[in-house]
Amino acid sequence: MATNWNANSWRAAEAKHLPTYPDAAKLVAVEETLTRFPPLVFAGEARALKADLAQVAAGKGFLLQGGDCAESFAEFHPNNIRDTFRVLLQMAVVLTFASKQPVVKVGRMAGQFAKPRSSPVEKIGDVELPSYLGDNINGIEFSAESRIPDPERMLRAYSQAAATLNLLRAFSTGGYANLRQVHQWTLDHIGKSPWAAKFGEMADKIGEALDFMEACGVNPGTVPQLQGTTFYTSHEALLLQYEQAMTRQDSLTGQWYDTSAHMLWIGDRTRFEGSAHVEFLRGVGNPIGMKCGPSLTPDALLRMLDTLNPAREPGRMTLISRFGHDKVEAGLPPLVRAVAREGHPVVWSCDPMHGNVIKADNGYKTRPFDRILSEVKGFFAVHRAEGTHAGGIHIEMTGQDVTECTGGAIAISEASLADRYHTHCDPRLNAAQSIELAFLLAEAINLERAERKAEAA
Ligand code: PEP
Ligand code: CO
Repeated sequence: MATNWNANSWRAAEAKHLPTYPDAAKLVAVEETLTRFPPLVFAGEARALKADLAQVAAGKGFLLQGGDCAESFAEFHPNNIRDTFRVLLQMAVVLTFASKQPVVKVGRMAGQFAKPRSSPVEKIGDVELPSYLGDNINGIEFSAESRIPDPERMLRAYSQAAATLNLLRAFSTGGYANLRQVHQWTLDHIGKSPWAAKFGEMADKIGEALDFMEACGVNPGTVPQLQGTTFYTSHEALLLQYEQAMTRQDSLTGQWYDTSAHMLWIGDRTRFEGSAHVEFLRGVGNPIGMKCGPSLTPDALLRMLDTLNPAREPGRMTLISRFGHDKVEAGLPPLVRAVAREGHPVVWSCDPMHGNVIKADNGYKTRPFDRILSEVKGFFAVHRAEGTHAGGIHIEMTGQDVTECTGGAIAISEASLADRYHTHCDPRLNAAQSIELAFLLAEAINLERAERKAEAA
């Protein structure tokens, strides 16, 4: 267990991107209420995810992590949860089928509410207001009142996370995720994409394989893995008042766990030395992610790994690189080399979203799909060259037919961004773009496998 740590010790460290609540008494009351609420996940589940990620760190598997940039109260609807879940299932099937490796599925769901913002204020015309910080802190509406941080939003976020997680658990184990349903997962609106046909062909092959196995006596009755799947949740551990209130001591091991999600990550803006966010996360037993952007030096990364994973436990750390399409091939190798040299067991995952944001001529914040693909290709190329495992992908996506990222096989133009631009924060891949990305990933994973086999031969 971490030394000189308690769930409160982050309060003495330097905290960036935390709100200032005008009503301090109300904040304390909400924190006390949350402390008495049931945990959302069980410590044993966090340990199971850590064991799965340890396999990925050892080169045996792939991490698929995705969901909204920011979940919102307004878009809370069972169909949205189902559609995002099924696109993640589809992506996982593409990756598993093509790569013959287990895929660890982790949603940016059931708790991804708080956002670090590049500016603390937002200006429209002559009016300047505090920025929107996520639905668990303040409101997106551009009014002075809505932008005041309100602690009670944390209770609503907890309740939405609990209901979302409940539905995800039901879908994962209740029959929806049964591989026999693979044809049913295709969403109508991706039918126009050439990748939908490719997915259909793959689903036919999976059906044939299942028929064959059934004839041999292997069916969902005899092998429970065919009946459902394991699905984990994650979010950025940004709002530390909420995360602390959700932290519990596990009765089996005595270890502390942040029970708001299975996996928590530290953002690129809060991963500095001496940060309150690092201080908090070093003491909880969950698997931890850390964003690695262009400003991170190899030495700072190694010091961070020593702080967050002094025991060098495999599966504990996932490093999520987010350089930008034009910086990844130069920026990532020094980090990968330093980590390999020091023998830290990590999962390397690629976030091709956050380094590739541009402003379209009409003012919309977007991400060109070809830049996203190009960062993914660069990430795989670096790992092939370094002889390390390209272990995962971290994306902002939705099952909805939104128009937020330009490009893709059903090309979205800058002019059509206005059609269905619904995100509360950053632009997300839509369902068709997500499936297209999965096929590209499958190809890249296979290339890595083929090269490794050739080297071994
Ligand atoms: C995010 O993942 O939503 C995010 C803000 O990323 P980063 O910390 O990498 O900028
Ligand atoms: Co984002």
